[in-house]
Amino acid sequence: MRTQVAIIGAGPAGLLLGQLLSRQGVANVILERRSAQYVLGRVRAGVIETGTAGFIDETGAGARMHREGLVHDGIEIAFAGERHRIDFRALVGQGVIVYGQTEITRDLMDSRARSGAETLYEVDDVSLHDVAGTKPRVRYRKGGMEHEIQAEFIAGCDGSHGVSRQYIPAPLLRTFERQYPFGWLGVMVDRPPVAPELIYTRHERGFALCSMRSATRSRLYVQCSLEDRVSDWPDDRFYEELTRRLDGATAAKLEPGASIEKSLTPLRGFVAEPMRYGSLFLAGDAAHVVPPTGAKGLNLAASDVHYLREALVEYFRTGSRAGIEAYSSRALARVWKAERFSWWMTSTLHTFPAHSGFESRMQEAELTYLVGSQAARAALAENYVGLPY
Ligand code: APR
Ligand code: PHB
Repeated sequence: MRTQVAIIGAGPAGLLLGQLLSRQGVANVILERRSAQYVLGRVRAGVIETGTAGFIDETGAGARMHREGLVHDGIEIAFAGERHRIDFRALVGQGVIVYGQTEITRDLMDSRARSGAETLYEVDDVSLHDVAGTKPRVRYRKGGMEHEIQAEFIAGCDGSHGVSRQYIPAPLLRTFERQYPFGWLGVMVDRPPVAPELIYTRHERGFALCSMRSATRSRLYVQCSLEDRVSDWPDDRFYEELTRRLDGATAAKLEPGASIEKSLTPLRGFVAEPMRYGSLFLAGDAAHVVPPTGAKGLNLAASDVHYLREALVEYFRTGSRAGIEAYSSRALARVWKAERFSWWMTSTLHTFPAHSGFESRMQEAELTYLVGSQAARAALAENYVGLPY
């Protein structure tokens, strides 16, 4: 089989890239290790930047997001028992769309199926060959048979545990990582949100987040220990702990209900440089991971994909390699800013086991400054709604 771009991974990064390229006449094939059903079973964050929404619209997959997504013009930050609103619309003239990232994946899959572009699910043993040159190949097994795809480029969109990154030669690859000494326990429940907007709470017992998926479905999180297992958190314990961390007025609105999903995520930041080697590009979680505070994961994947499709479309239309040569540095410039923002939100709102009283006071001072300063609130707002490309 021959194609122009072979894409590894059918997560948000791979699907968005595939659909943007198809729309601009660049042939592509997506190879995914799991089944479509499995990919759609993963619950992810739920905040879409305006820019990301624009890319999804370009593929023609945005209708349901606009119909069912909730436009939010701000968030609330709670600490010392009080909630404070950060008004994005007033500060930076933009909002965000609250819509499950899993739903984005479903919408992109549906639009890809309609367009007839090829996605091969449940492929095994994907390996890349000759990525240093201009005739790279991908080998894989499906149904017990060996197959090979000859491509002009390979896009590694295979997430943080994918294989693509390892094809950048070790002496050229630099990785940067921060592991946080805690995780988030997340619960999905069919109960109305406690408030119209997301509430990020700092509390001595640990961070808490009240998010939502719709007017009738809440997504709730508490900071937990890395040693914890999901089974350590029956619903009763979860609601009791969340109630203790929320301010009184918010806690009074909390309606406990039987969880329909519960999962634990360790928090970490990770960046691999460079994001291109020869004809291999990395995009999305394959190249970087952010802690979920600020919900930048999918939005960063979308910004990589934006730079990458510009580079590839330019190449196939004009033969110019300028965008290809610039891809890694353009993508990384935005990646590091989002890493910084996610690190700042995480550092300011969580309880760190090693912190002394001094650091704890610093967090309070940071938050007091934030809510009292228009400049500080604008800085949060412009990062949260998404920095320019
Ligand atoms: N071969 C083929 N596919 C693979 C392989 C492999 N060896 N390894 C992983 N994959 C697939 C995974 O099964 C997964 O479906 O690659 C896909 C990667 O998808 P994600 O992990 O969702 O990564 P990405 O598309 O970069 O998503 C970016 O979106 O929903 C958010 O928070 C999420 O930060 C993440 C962001
Ligand atoms: C979510 O709704 O799952 C969510 C929202 C905001 C975040 C992280 C997760 O910062």
